Amino acid sequence: MNEIKTKPPLWILLELTHKCPLECPYCYNQLDFAKIDDKMQKEDWFRVMEQAREMGAVQIGFSGGEPLLNKDLPELVKKANDLGFYTNLITSGVSAPIGIVQKLKEAGLKTVQIGIQSHDKDIITLLTNNKTAYEQKQNFIKEVKKEGIQLIINSTIHKLNIDHVDKIIEYANDVGANYLELANVQYYGWALENIDKLLPSKEQIEKARKITHTYRENKNNKMKVYFVVPDYYEVRPKACMNGWGTTFLTINPEGDALPCNMANTLPLKFPNVKDYSLEEIWNRSNSFNYFRGDSWMSEPCRTCNEKEKDFGGCRCQAFALTNDMNATDPVCEKSQHHNIITDTINRALETSNDGLIYRNRNNSINFIGKNHANC
Ligand code: FES
Repeated sequence: MNEIKTKPPLWILLELTHKCPLECPYCYNQLDFAKIDDKMQKEDWFRVMEQAREMGAVQIGFSGGEPLLNKDLPELVKKANDLGFYTNLITSGVSAPIGIVQKLKEAGLKTVQIGIQSHDKDIITLLTNNKTAYEQKQNFIKEVKKEGIQLIINSTIHKLNIDHVDKIIEYANDVGANYLELANVQYYGWALENIDKLLPSKEQIEKARKITHTYRENKNNKMKVYFVVPDYYEVRPKACMNGWGTTFLTINPEGDALPCNMANTLPLKFPNVKDYSLEEIWNRSNSFNYFRGDSWMSEPCRTCNEKEKDFGGCRCQAFALTNDMNATDPVCEKSQHHNIITDTINRALETSNDGLIYRNRNNSINFIGKNHANC
């Protein structure tokens, strides 16, 4: 491992399990999740948290899969809180053990971010492929409010719900959310499999953005609302993860440390926290150093005057769409592969949302080894 001195990560995400009671067709989890196990034990997570805090990380997220399925969750939250982290639970609110919210509050949990697919029960059932998800989510939200924990509602936006953004805002407001994130799907993993059925039109996005803006303009509205656009309609790529290996570090259920949630889809070998300390991984591993700086870039990125702004875009998207992880992100209109994006948009506009492919074990087996170079 060679060392490149860099600032420590600020935000750590622990993916506590791959298991999830829901089967959302836009999950960012990798496609072949069914062939891998959760290998991290409570003591491993404790060690990683201590190392991260020592390096200077300040915020920690617990996610999955569904983190509520990890029986050690309250102890993990307590440990993080004792170490001085700002703690955030990213959950579906489904499969919650009885009394868990109170336990998490006692453990020091600061924020719950819950995924709500829609205000509408039928749409939630369709998107999660789970008949009791709607009721379970409502109950979980009530518990969070009762315990006085900060509530963020995250609503993933796509063709099936974008025309109801006004209703989703109303719903989040009524249940007392502190923040609402209307996050358009980013097309990786399962979302890329379903892109033709999920990608809305530019007009739909504009309309939803205006509705959000109108809500924000009204000074009586206290809830903060964010609207994240899908990069498919941009002409320059997003600065994914604020630059590779600059801010964020995630650890998956096998213990692999990654600079972003999708990084293990790339042809790079990522170090495991059972073999190396976080400090060694962050500062000295080949995979974390690989896309730092600009020496990996080829044209048009290498001489682009915006390369400090977008860092060549998303590496995982570039690889998924072109089979070359060093390529310019095809979202950029300077990319020689930009037609992949425009062709996809045109195809999606002509496709209905019937026949969603759900994230489940059967589909996982089918997808092993598949890439999207011809997407
Ligand atoms: Fe991995 Fe963008 S998701 S670099």
